[in-house]
Amino acid sequence: MCGIVGYIGFRSAREVLLNSLKKLEYRGYDSAGVAIISEELKIEKKKGYIDNLKIDFDGSVGIGHTRWATHGIPDDRNAHPFTDCSGKIAIVHNGIIENYMELKEKLIEEGHQFKSDTDSEVIAHLIEKYYQGNLKDAFFKAISHLRGSFAIVAIHADERKIMAAKKDSPLVVGIGDHEKFLASDIPAFLSYTNRVMILKDGEVCEVTEDMVNVYDFSGKKIEKKIEKINWSAEDAEKGGYEHFMLKEIYEQPRAIDDTLHSLISRNEIGMDFEKIVIVACGTSYHAGLTGKYVLENLLHIPVEVYYGSEYRYRAEVNDSYLAIFITQSGETADTLAAAKRAKEIGFPSLGITNVVGSSITNYVDHVLYTYAGPEIGVAATKTFTTQLTTLYYFAINSAMNRGLISKTKYRELMNTLREMAHAVEEVFEEEEKIIEASKIIAEKEHMFYIGRGLNYPIALEGALKMKEISYIHAEGYPAGELKHGPIALISNGMPVIALVPEDSTYEKMLSNVKEVSARNAYVIALSPNEDVEKYVDFLIRVPKTDPLFSPFVNAVALQLLSYHTAKLLGREIDKPKNLAKSVTVE
Ligand code: F6R
Repeated sequence: MCGIVGYIGFRSAREVLLNSLKKLEYRGYDSAGVAIISEELKIEKKKGYIDNLKIDFDGSVGIGHTRWATHGIPDDRNAHPFTDCSGKIAIVHNGIIENYMELKEKLIEEGHQFKSDTDSEVIAHLIEKYYQGNLKDAFFKAISHLRGSFAIVAIHADERKIMAAKKDSPLVVGIGDHEKFLASDIPAFLSYTNRVMILKDGEVCEVTEDMVNVYDFSGKKIEKKIEKINWSAEDAEKGGYEHFMLKEIYEQPRAIDDTLHSLISRNEIGMDFEKIVIVACGTSYHAGLTGKYVLENLLHIPVEVYYGSEYRYRAEVNDSYLAIFITQSGETADTLAAAKRAKEIGFPSLGITNVVGSSITNYVDHVLYTYAGPEIGVAATKTFTTQLTTLYYFAINSAMNRGLISKTKYRELMNTLREMAHAVEEVFEEEEKIIEASKIIAEKEHMFYIGRGLNYPIALEGALKMKEISYIHAEGYPAGELKHGPIALISNGMPVIALVPEDSTYEKMLSNVKEVSARNAYVIALSPNEDVEKYVDFLIRVPKTDPLFSPFVNAVALQLLSYHTAKLLGREIDKPKNLAKSVTVE
């Protein structure tokens, strides 16, 4: 889990690397570093943020890294880039080298001296071991020994070229005129070029300012397409908002619209299935859990939902199903591992991701892209509502294709889905009210979120968003479960967020509200029905929608609630502690 970059061209490598690393800081910020060929190879690396780096050298070829620690504590010594003993080779790595201990022991026996506790450092020493005046040859030999996941970028002080390789960690090449860029993610170099080459697993590339040669691991040359990216560099910037998270919350109407347009314009994915298993992590898991209710409601077939990390423990029962993997980044290791397993067993599969060409696309039969645009804030917001859009679309279309709903019902549901962009805009009109509620919450240490049916996953998502950015202890529960234990924790003034849509859960939700009120909880309800005000301490009115679609408006109101609470508490909203945007370790 890290961000890596490389540059070769005519500009100041120092400037390009620092700019690019800044765009990747969401991938980890335990340490940062750069290596630049400036007559000789020079390195600056430090624990903490990129701004801590003091670089008093420059050149036009270099590599950089921003780290999320896995092997070795976050400190200067374990920061990338790593060099070999001669100090001429430098590498940056994202991923995990599973066999690094055995490689390290052998290299130490052969006389190599190591300076860090990381798995990555073995790569620099392996290249050194094979180096006989040709970086490309040594690089191929070195990577043939590696087991695990890696995106690697390497340079040698005596050669004007960059070598890179990808397996199970993301890597893209930016194509400029007389300059080339390498990065874990496209926004890193989008202010320089929008032409990209997306590397696939098992590919190596040799890059100079005027050429990119791509090979497979055996050295056979591969022809690659150059793709044009339509996001502007500004799309990936804050665009006037105080935080990326707020900007991304406000981008949701556009993101939902774009996703829907792209879904409508693509050909039907003809898939036959009688059962669905959805696999995802974190917020994407909550989208999957919401999708379960919608799919079961419209298709009347069973849908199971697994955490990516738990799917491997599902016994191989006599079963067949469509496996749906939801991952905004397309790189979450737990979800990828599950997708690999499903592929091995031979289940038909569908991936839902926000990143074109991301790793998940290699493991599934079909891909549906969400068009949220780059999401920089660590907390997922617009990718969540675009995942919901995709799942609802998939459910409505599959129901229509199976003759389970009439054409009129189909049109009605599709129109309601289209209206979600507008419904979300209406939630923004409640922002002042939401800020008032956040003032009450910001003073508390513990809180609950409760919902039933479709809104139970939204209660989980609301609680996740609150805890990850405000650090308040928040738990989501099915409202009916409170009385089976958690209600014992209700204390005087403790906030309970109750999701009260106007559907079959309405009466029962009000009973649960009364239960917690009787124990002196401070109840904040989200409901389109103003009568609810009589029963609660604080009401946030959400727009009236078909109740099947209430998760959209509730989720967005809860995103704003978390955002404003975290802001009042002065938290690092876009980069919460201990978290990284893309979790590429299991
Ligand atoms: C929470 C959040 C995480 C991610 C999870 C899965 O706001 O962002 O819980 O949802 O790490 O990430 P993806 O969707 O990239 O697989």
